Amino acid sequence: MSSPLLKRLNVALLQFAASPIKNENFIKVESLVTKALQNKPNLDLIILPECFNSPYSIKLFKKYGEQIPSGETTQFLSQLSLKNKINIIGGSYPEHHEDKIYNTSTVFNTQGELIAKHRKAHLFNIDIPNKITFQESRVLDAGNKATLFELPSFGKIGLGICYDVRFPELSMTCARKGAFAMVFPSAFNTTTGPLHWETLARSRAIDNQVYVVMCSPARDLNAKYHAYGHSLVVDPMGKIVVEAGTEEEILYWEMDPEVINSTRQGIPIDGQRRFDIYQDVSETTKIGDV
Ligand SMILES: *[C@@H]1O[C@H](CO)[C@@H](O)[C@H](O)[C@H]1NC(C)=O
Ligand SMILES: *[C@@H]1O[C@H](CO)[C@@H](O)[C@H](O)[C@H]1NC(C)=O
Ligand SMILES: *[C@@H]1O[C@H](CO)[C@@H](O)[C@H](O)[C@H]1NC(C)=O
Repeated sequence: MSSPLLKRLNVALLQFAASPIKNENFIKVESLVTKALQNKPNLDLIILPECFNSPYSIKLFKKYGEQIPSGETTQFLSQLSLKNKINIIGGSYPEHHEDKIYNTSTVFNTQGELIAKHRKAHLFNIDIPNKITFQESRVLDAGNKATLFELPSFGKIGLGICYDVRFPELSMTCARKGAFAMVFPSAFNTTTGPLHWETLARSRAIDNQVYVVMCSPARDLNAKYHAYGHSLVVDPMGKIVVEAGTEEEILYWEMDPEVINSTRQGIPIDGQRRFDIYQDVSETTKIGDV
């Protein structure tokens, strides 16, 4: 059996709370990247949280939004990956494109090149009278594809944002097309976090026998939106191998091709599917890298 992960991959997740001042967020990211590389000089990939360049607020998406790739956040991430010779999954931030605003995640290789872009495909709308109203679709537009990209010399990664983790078809498609991991920059709150965060991450890992990474902002009780925190890495057996608390923290994990192999050898679901009973969603799901 060959593994979709070609060699060991060292990842770091940066969990921190975004400041309302964009430039302070850049300074924060830079200092955390420096710290992570001091602690683990052999890091291959750094992952940022959802909405890392601004507070998580529907009202602010427009103000903090930028064009990709010309905007300052994309340029900052590109320079950062080039300077440190490191791959970066740039969390997410609002993107202006034509007259639309998307919630977008960008990926950079060690030369600072933009190699993939995912626009959040499932927008979060909820309206419980007298309780909570959160209508992303009032201000955001939805992406129109699953995102799968090649991380040079390691293999393929599937990318989603937050709410996308609740829709198994995206992960399933990416995994069947060869992903070794699913990565979700995410910002659950303090209700849905305790109920669903770990279970969703573990479910996607177990369904697909891949690594799953969820990277959250730290909890900021002075901010309007209280993120759950608890960034984590789940292995292909569904085990949480590392998990943050609620404060600022850097998590590290080494993904191992043998763990994927042994999971798939032990529980060989891949060769036992019954596409004569149900459909293979990966055949019809729209997929791309930009
Ligand atoms: C596991 O995957 C690696 C990487 O593809 C491969 O070289 C190795 O032969 C596999 N090991 C087993 C036991 O199948
Ligand atoms: C992206 O969408 C999520 C909803 O899942 C929201 O929490 C977040 O603030 C949005 N981020 C940006 C940068 O637009
Ligand atoms: C978190 O979001 C859920 C789902 O929308 C909602 O029911 C809940 O009230 C929210 N919790 C907090 C503390 O805002």
